[in-house]
Amino acid sequence: MNILAIETSCDESSVAVLRDEQIFQLTASQIDVHKQFGGVVPEVAAREHVPVMMPFVEQVLAQAGITPEQLDRIAVTAGPGLITSLLVGVETARALAYGWQKPIFPINHIEGHIAANFLVHSGNHSKDIPFPAVALVVSGGHTELLYMPKPGVYELIGATRDDAAGECFDKCARVLGQPYPGGPAISKLAASGDATQYSFPSPMVNSNTFDFSFSGLKTSVLYFHRDHPDAKLEDVCAGVQEAIVNSLHVKTVRALEQYDAQAVLVGGGVAANPLLRERLQTLDVPVFIPPLEYCTDNAAMIAAACRLHDTPTELFAFRADPNWELTPR
Ligand code: KG4
Ligand code: ZN
Repeated sequence: MNILAIETSCDESSVAVLRDEQIFQLTASQIDVHKQFGGVVPEVAAREHVPVMMPFVEQVLAQAGITPEQLDRIAVTAGPGLITSLLVGVETARALAYGWQKPIFPINHIEGHIAANFLVHSGNHSKDIPFPAVALVVSGGHTELLYMPKPGVYELIGATRDDAAGECFDKCARVLGQPYPGGPAISKLAASGDATQYSFPSPMVNSNTFDFSFSGLKTSVLYFHRDHPDAKLEDVCAGVQEAIVNSLHVKTVRALEQYDAQAVLVGGGVAANPLLRERLQTLDVPVFIPPLEYCTDNAAMIAAACRLHDTPTELFAFRADPNWELTPR
């Protein structure tokens, strides 16, 4: 099967062709553009997506060695995400599907992050993953725990009540004078720090829900930095990282126990965090984490999610939905 996939939900413009198990992908990151503002500016992100869409589609088809006629499906991220950014991908995909007369599959971005684990390039295939499983999606925009009785079926069991885990890394980094995106900056500094020097609150670990909350941690780092400007930065970063990772770890363990799950599927940019990866590897079920390029936003994962569906959507029957929740089906 040949799938053309487009992902523009935030600040990555990505186009991929999945030819059976082979991936051809082009991704343009806008990080340098948004860095000067300390975070993603939605209007700017949308404008940046526009000029790369058609050249990427042409180049990726050429790399895959196929013509538009040979495509079986067109898949596109339709939500959740920034509405301005989503619209660029959705309307590009719709126009192509109309012009080339191809079936279109609007894909949920969260499902994409989970489905990245089904790419053979991730070292596994859905048939190798034992179910039921628990999925942990951790990125700049999302922190969600989902129960998956089988591939393609999801029950949202927990989510952040305020900031996402990646957003917390980004905001703490900003408080500490570090560049955007903050996750890589904090984890790099934390590598030579001592996490036991300063202890920050691990949000919601004692609550009985699977929900997360990260805005309080950001505030406590803000006050700590104001009151202890001379604290060793590496130690502060190690403490912040420990607090975030601990809360993700504790909730994942609790979900595994409650749902008697046989595996954990991880996705999203925060899955690049070395401490999170290390902590999750200590679980007593197999843990699947895609390689870095398929953890951060990419179109190949949208093609992988498309393969979980049988029926296309009528061309004009869907819209970009910034709040699309992955509901049970
Ligand atoms: O999935 P992603 O590329 O985009 C969104 O959908 O948000 O995730 C980006 C997020 C940013 O918040 C970034 O700080 C975080 O992933 N991130 C990390 C690391 N690398 C990226 N967080 C912690 N540790 C890292 N090494
Ligand atoms: Zn994402």
